[in-house]
Amino acid sequence: MHADKPKIDLGVNIDHIAVLREARKINDPDPLMALAICAQAGADQITIHLREDRRHIHDDDAFRIIASSPIPVNLECSIDSEIISIVCTLKPHRATLVPEKRSEVTTEGGLDVSGSYHAILNAINILEKSEIEISLFIDPTAEAVELSKKLGAQWVELHTGTYANLYAMRHSALPHSHHSIEPLRLSRQELDSRLAEAFEAIQNAAEYAQQLGLKVAAGHGLNYQNVTRITTIESITELNIGQSIIARSVFTGLSRAVSDMKELCKR
Ligand code: PXP
Repeated sequence: MHADKPKIDLGVNIDHIAVLREARKINDPDPLMALAICAQAGADQITIHLREDRRHIHDDDAFRIIASSPIPVNLECSIDSEIISIVCTLKPHRATLVPEKRSEVTTEGGLDVSGSYHAILNAINILEKSEIEISLFIDPTAEAVELSKKLGAQWVELHTGTYANLYAMRHSALPHSHHSIEPLRLSRQELDSRLAEAFEAIQNAAEYAQQLGLKVAAGHGLNYQNVTRITTIESITELNIGQSIIARSVFTGLSRAVSDMKELCKR
């Protein structure tokens, strides 16, 4: 890293640990156990998403994580009034407002900042009274950036999903199943040009947001292949990454997990 370049903070999204737990509906693995490991490994922030349907992170997880985290907690949530009032009680360091659909596997895009302007404003006004820092998860467009500023958010988090999907389609032989990109058979040239456009959109939105005095984060779909290019955008000072980190940890930790069990199987 170049000495005079601003540092990028890493927020680690640990929802994916709760996803694994909920596959069995037991208490293992406990996302709380990830806190100290992530902090010790250099994470600057923990991110969790308290969904309306509580399908991964539960209120009790959020409570325990916020109460005991050694690093700031960024709580993603919808603008639903019941959720917002729970967030005010939980008092995380930051609340990131995201769109939420029951049918989605993961967050599929940024907030509809224009269409839901008044509902977002209402949520922000309530959160501000509890002195919670506010970030809006938005698509990388000038309009969304301007409206976020007008709404009084301190942060925007730019949605990198389209870039990540195009990157995977261009560079990986694996079938890719994201909803925001129509399953077209695009030529390499078309993919290159759409990938360049997606990257430029993030870069332009990040620079514009910084000019307007907003702090800029980015995330969704970032992994060990596609992240380096995003780190070249100097106005982005934080990345929130989950799936790829937790997925890698399965393989970096599997050998130790097997040998620990093998040891216990000895007579
Ligand atoms: N940022 C936001 C707002 C998200 O909703 C998510 C996914 O929960 C992430 C970042 C992390 O995305 P991923 O798990 O694909 O790294």
